Order: sequence, then structure tokens, then C-alpha cells
Amino acid sequence: MENLNLIEITSKAKIYRRHHCVLTLVIVVLFVLCLGFIIADKVFIHFFQDHHHKEESIKLSGSSGVTWTIGGDEDNSVEIIDIGSSDDRKCKPIPNLTFRDKAYGAFGFLNEDGRPVVCCGRNENKCISWTGSEWQDHPTTASNDTRLELPIYPGVALFDRETLWITGGKSVHSNATVPTSLFFKTKYGFAPGPRLPESRFGHCLVSLSNSGDDNGEHSGHLLVGGKPFTKAVHIFSRGQWYQQVPISNARHGSACAKVNLDSGTSVVVVAGGYNLYGSSSDVDMFSLKTLEWTRGTTKLPFPLHYGAAVPRGNTFLILGGNGANGTRHKDILKYDPARNAWKLLGPRMAIPRVYFLAMSISESQSC
Ligand SMILES: *[C@@H]1O[C@H](CO)[C@@H](O)[C@H](O)[C@H]1NC(C)=O
Ligand SMILES: *[C@@H]1O[C@H](CO)[C@@H](O)[C@H](O)[C@H]1NC(C)=O
Ligand SMILES: *[C@@H]1O[C@H](CO)[C@@H](O)[C@H](O)[C@H]1NC(C)=O
Ligand SMILES: *[C@@H]1O[C@H](CO)[C@@H](O)[C@H](O)[C@H]1NC(C)=O
Repeated sequence: MENLNLIEITSKAKIYRRHHCVLTLVIVVLFVLCLGFIIADKVFIHFFQDHHHKEESIKLSGSSGVTWTIGGDEDNSVEIIDIGSSDDRKCKPIPNLTFRDKAYGAFGFLNEDGRPVVCCGRNENKCISWTGSEWQDHPTTASNDTRLELPIYPGVALFDRETLWITGGKSVHSNATVPTSLFFKTKYGFAPGPRLPESRFGHCLVSLSNSGDDNGEHSGHLLVGGKPFTKAVHIFSRGQWYQQVPISNARHGSACAKVNLDSGTSVVVVAGGYNLYGSSSDVDMFSLKTLEWTRGTTKLPFPLHYGAAVPRGNTFLILGGNGANGTRHKDILKYDPARNAWKLLGPRMAIPRVYFLAMSISESQSC
């Protein structure tokens, strides 16, 4: 009887221990699951959000909207020009850039929110970004890293959707023309990029792929023009520079853009610039099909150098710039690919601007 009881008690104890074991296991599993969810939320959801955020790439210019003209060799002011709209929208005035000196030779881009960032005017070594109400030092460039030397008069293009490529230019500190390049990513700041075939400033760097994706039919970047004077033309593709057919007329300060012709071919238009004899109205076109140059059959209506090129639809605008005999322009020109002609648009800038920045920015950021 006692023995039986003992067996009963022992087996009860076993059952109890088994229950206890299962309960512990369940608690541990629940705890691990919980921890898993927390980790997943902290790491993966944020990773996905980050990833999603990165999808909103940086740009050089919006596809539509109003045009901001920024700085130049006269001042630090910003003017908003509404091209192609008859109604007189009231865009709020934008405060002047917070640079100590005139913002000439600056470069810029639109951040992932579509807001302008302006980098490196004369005597400045940082970028400032528009918050919607004021200009603020851009966090990734406001460091006191004196090794970071941003150039003025560089050739700038998107390298890929997230990366800006800043090639050559003049050192802000030493005035030297540099043969180096920089990459810029919004979150990570500046990093060294590939060397150029030679030192250059006032040249054009044009991304040959649409929207800066490096997987288009014509991938890579075209480097043309600049000072010291050179007719040499290069394409950078898959980490290498490839020499191309030279351009007819060496010049710097040209306005350049990729344009899609009605025939389906794409060309890089190199308009105006400053050649050995002065300001030029020459227009050259580089076919991305044949990789040959055609001397433009239509010249610019007047000689022009160091204006600002802004993409618009399947073509581009040239704003302002220096002309012959020291003329300084307020005019806005549009290239018409169908007629191979230049059209002088109605709206003009309030002040002449040279060595400045122009970007197309969505109306919601401006008006
Ligand atoms: C912006 O700069 C222009 C030209 O230098 C000047 O006339 C104007 O007063 C400035 N505006 C402000 C708000 O400081
Ligand atoms: C840069 O240096 C200045 C002056 O020494 C200092 O006031 C500022 O906080 C520094 N900025 C950063 C981002 O370290
Ligand atoms: C840079 O060069 C320009 C033009 O040659 C000159 O006016 C300027 O004083 C130079 N600046 C420096 C810092 O050497
Ligand atoms: C520039 O000045 C020269 C000499 O005065 C003149 O011959 C030429 O036509 C002018 N060019 C332009 C574009 O005004």
C-alpha cells in the first residue's frame, strides 16, 4: 500500500515536472518570439524603411515645376521664375544664401525630399540645404574637417540614384585646378572618387543614362570641354575613361545637356562657351548612337558662356551667362529639338546672373 502510494506520488511528481517543463518551454518560446519581434522591428523594419527612404533618390533637377536661380558672381540671392505659366502665382520670396561671400561657382542638387542643397560658393567649404523656411548647414558637410576641399566650377552629374559625382574644378583654398573627383551621398557625406584624365574646371559632365541609372542603353558619363583648353572628350564607363572623337572647338563654360531627338536618338548638346578667341555661340552635338560630333547647324542667337543649363521635358533651358564684350544676360533660351532652333523665352531673370546655379523645383516646395 505504502509502495503503491509512493509510486503514485512519484508519478504525480513526474507529471508535475513534465507540466513544469512544458510551461517553461512555452514561456521561453514566447520570450524568444517577443524578442524576435522587437529585434525585427528595430532592425528589419528600420532597414526596410531606410531602404525605402533610399529609393527616394537625389536629383539635379525636378522634371517640372518652377525654376530657382541661385547666387552667381553678383550676389547670394535666390529668384523663382515660373516659366511657361501665364497665371501670376505668388511664390514666397526665398531668403539669400547664408554664405559669407557671393555664391559663384557653386554646385547643388535636390535632396531626397526634393529640396535644394547648395554647396561651395567662393570661399565656402560646406553645403547648405533649404528646410522649407530657411537655409541650414547640411549636417554631413558642416564638420570642421579641413581635409575636405570642395571645388568651385566643377562638372557635376548624378553617378547613380543616390550619388552625386563632382569632378575637377578649382580648389577653394589654393585656386589650383584639380584632377580629382568626389562622390557625395546625402547620409554619408563626401568621399574620394576616380581621377580625371587631366585637371579641368568649367567643363561639362553629362550622365548618358536616363535618371542616372547605370543600366541604361547608353550608360556612363561624357566629359567634355573645360580649362586648360582641350578638345579631348572622354566617356567614363564601368570604372574606366575611354577617349572619344575630339570636339571641333575647345572651350569652357559651355551649357550642356542630353536631349532626346524625335528620331529616337539621343545627343549631348554642347552650347556656347568661352574659346581661345572669347565668348562663342557655337553648338556641337555628340550622337550617342554613332559617338560622332556634328557641328550644330543652328548657333546660339548670341555668344554665351557660364550660363546655367536646366533640363526641361525632353530638352533644356539656358539661363543667363556672360556674352561678348562683357555683356551679362538675364535671358532664358530654350532648345527646340524638333526645329533644331533656339527660342528666346518671354520671362527673364530680374538680375543678370553668371557662374550661378539653376534648378527646377516642385511648386509645393516654392509657392
Ligand atoms: C539679398 O541680396 C540682395 C543682393 O545682394 C540684397 O539686395 C538683398 O537686400 C538681400 N536680401 C536680404 C533679405 O538680405
Ligand atoms: C567647428 O568649429 C567651430 C569653431 O571652432 C565650432 O564653434 C563649431 O561647433 C565646430 N563645428 C563642428 C560641426 O564641429
Ligand atoms: C584665384 O585666381 C583668380 C583669377 O586668376 C584671382 O583673381 C584670385 O585672386 C585667386 N585667388 C587665390 C586665393 O589665389
Ligand atoms: C564686341 O565689340 C566689338 C568691338 O567693339 C564689335 O566689333 C563686336 O560686334 C561686339 N560683339 C558683340 C556680340 O556685341
